[in-house]
Amino acid sequence: MAFNRRAYFEDAENTPSNVDIKAPIGEIIAQRYSRRGFLKGMGYGGLGVAAIGAMNPLSAAIAAEGEASDRFGFDEIAHGVDTTHHVAAGHDADILIRWGDPLFAGAPAFNPHNQSADAQEQQFGYNNDYVGFVPLEGRFDHGLLVVNHEYTNEELMFPGLPGPQDEHDFTGITREMVEIEKAAHGLSVVEVKREGGKWHYVRDSRYNRRITPRSTAMTLSGPVAGHQRVRTSADAEGRRVIGTLNNCAGGTTPWGTILTCEENFHGYFLGDAEFHPEKDKLARYGVPGMSYAWGRFDSRFDIGQEPNEPNRFGWVVEIDPLDPTSTPIKRTALGRFKHEGAASVLTEDGRLAVYMGDDQRFDYVYKFVSRDVVDRADPAANRELLDHGTLYVARFDEDGTVTWLPLVHGEGPLTAENGFASQADVLIDTRLAADALGATPMDRPEDIEANPETGEVYVMLTNNDKRTGEQVDAVNPRGDNVFGHVLEIVTEGRHTATQNRWEVLVKCGDPARGEVGAMWNPATSENGWFASPDNCAVDARGRLWVTTDQGGNWPKSGTADGVWAMETQGERRGTGKMFFRVPVGAEMCGPCFTPDDTTLFVAVQHPAADGAEDFDGHQGRSSFETPATRWPDFEDGMPPRPSVVAITRQGGGVIG
Ligand code: FEO
Ligand code: CA
Ligand code: CA
Repeated sequence: MAFNRRAYFEDAENTPSNVDIKAPIGEIIAQRYSRRGFLKGMGYGGLGVAAIGAMNPLSAAIAAEGEASDRFGFDEIAHGVDTTHHVAAGHDADILIRWGDPLFAGAPAFNPHNQSADAQEQQFGYNNDYVGFVPLEGRFDHGLLVVNHEYTNEELMFPGLPGPQDEHDFTGITREMVEIEKAAHGLSVVEVKREGGKWHYVRDSRYNRRITPRSTAMTLSGPVAGHQRVRTSADAEGRRVIGTLNNCAGGTTPWGTILTCEENFHGYFLGDAEFHPEKDKLARYGVPGMSYAWGRFDSRFDIGQEPNEPNRFGWVVEIDPLDPTSTPIKRTALGRFKHEGAASVLTEDGRLAVYMGDDQRFDYVYKFVSRDVVDRADPAANRELLDHGTLYVARFDEDGTVTWLPLVHGEGPLTAENGFASQADVLIDTRLAADALGATPMDRPEDIEANPETGEVYVMLTNNDKRTGEQVDAVNPRGDNVFGHVLEIVTEGRHTATQNRWEVLVKCGDPARGEVGAMWNPATSENGWFASPDNCAVDARGRLWVTTDQGGNWPKSGTADGVWAMETQGERRGTGKMFFRVPVGAEMCGPCFTPDDTTLFVAVQHPAADGAEDFDGHQGRSSFETPATRWPDFEDGMPPRPSVVAITRQGGGVIG
C-alpha cells in the first residue's frame, strides 16, 4: 500500500520506544477493581449518585446539591462520515482562515499550482492544531488567534507527486518543496474580529506573524541552555535555535503568553543512528524518524552532520503574541519529550502548575510546578517563571493514588553513575529519567486540561492497541485499547501536592458493543459516545469538551472525529453529547473558547487524509489530484485545506 504521511506519524505514536514495560500482576488489578467494584464490566449502569460519590467526594458534594440536569442545552448531531462538517442545530460553523490565506499586505494569493516558500511564509500554514485566543483590549469579539501548524502532507499539498511508497521514499520531493514544507510548519499569529455576528481575520494587522522552522530564531533557556549537548556548528553557544517543529497542542499562561508544544520532532531527522555517540538515547525518542526529506537538503536535519540538533527539539516554547518582534523561548525546565500540550493552572499558593502529556504508546504524564509565584499584575515579572521549578512524572497506583515523582538531578536514581551528570542531562533525557523513576506507562497521553474551579484535571488517553492483556493495569484497564479513555486527576485544588487521586471518567467506544468494554453514563445516547479523545477544553462555565483523533481507525467506530460535550459532575457524570463533526479524513484539533463562551474555535486538520480508502465512493488513498474531499472550498483543482472554523450561536449567546 502507498505510504501515508499522516499514518506514519500515527504509527510513530503507536510504536512504543519505552521497552521496559512491566506487566502488572492480576492480583493488583483485582485489588484495584474491588475498591471500586462498579468498574468491573458494569460501566455506569445501575449506579446511583452515592456510588459515584464514593469514588469522588467532590462530585458527590456537587451531586448532593442536586445538580443533575443536562448542562448542555443543544440537540446533538448524529454519528457519520461525509465530505463536509456538521454542527448542532442553532449554531453556525463558519470557515475563518484556511491554509494559504495571505496574512500580510504584500502576501500573494494562494495558488497551490504555483506555490513558493516565500509565499507560504506570508500565508497561513498547514495542518492547524492548537488554537489560542488572546483578547485585545479585554474584548471577547476582537483578539489574536495563535495557531500551531503541526506538520505537512505533501501528497495533498503538491500537484504531480507519485505519492511515497514507504516512509523512506521521497520520490519527487525537491529542495523547493522542502522549503515550502518548512514554511508551512510552525505557527501563525493572526488578528481576528467579530463584526455583524461573524468572525473574520484582519489581513496585514501589525500583530500578524508567521513563526517557522525555516526562519524564526529562538532562545534556549533554563537548565539546558548552553550545555555541550545542545551546541551545533551553527550555534557554538548552545543558546539559539532556528525554529520549532511539529507543534501539536499548547496552552495559555495567566500572563498572556502562549505555550506551544514540540511533539513528533524525531520525524524530521535523517541519518544512521548506528554511528551516533548517543545512539541509545536517540532510540528512546525514535530519532531519526526519517519521515521527511529535509535532511537531504539541510545538514541540520542530518544526524551524521549535526549530531546534537535533535536535542534542541522536543521542548515547550513560550511565545508572546502581543509583541511580534519577541523571540520565542524554549523552556527546557519543562522537559524534553513528545509534548502534546501544556495546561497552566494557578496553584493553591499562587505558583504555576503545568500539566503535560507525552504522546506515545506507553509514555507518561508530567507536571511542572514553578518555584516562584505568578505576578498577575505585571506580566513582565513572569519572564523567567518557567525557568525555575520542579518537573514531576506520574505514577498511578492501583489504590487510586497518583504520586508525582520529581525529576531532580542527584535524587534517587538520577545520578552520574546512571548517566545523568547534571540537571541538563535529566531534562534532555526526560524519558529515560522518568523510566528510571518507575513512572506508569500510559495509553498515549495527549491533551490535559484543568478545571480551575473544581481542581479536576482531565487527561485524554487516546488509545494503545499495543497494550496486551498482560500489561493491563488499573489506570489503563483495557488491552488492545483501540478507543482510549479519559482519566480524571482529583486534586481538590492541591496542584503542588506530590500525591493526588485519580479516577477513570469514561472508557471510550460504543457501549452497545460488549466486546469494546466501554464505560459511559447510561444517559449517553447512541451518538454521545466517542473514540480516541485527543484534545479538550474547559469552558468558562467549567464544562468539559473533548475532541477526537481516531486516525485511520474511524471505520472501526463508524463515525468521523469531532467535538463532544462531556458531563463531569453529578448524576450525569460520564455522559457524552455530540456537537460537531469533521469532513472525512480530518481530525479535530484546537478547541478554544472565547472567555465569554460565545465562540468556539476549532481546527480541522488534514481533511481527506485518514482512511480515504475506506470512504464510500472514493477509490484508494487521497492525493492532490484525487482527494476524498475538497473541503472547504469544493472547487475543482483546489486541494482540501486545513482550516480554523468559528462556531457561534445563531442570534448570539453561549455555545452549547
Ligand atoms: Fe499531534 Fe498527539 O497529536
Ligand atoms: Ca493533539
Ligand atoms: Ca492528534
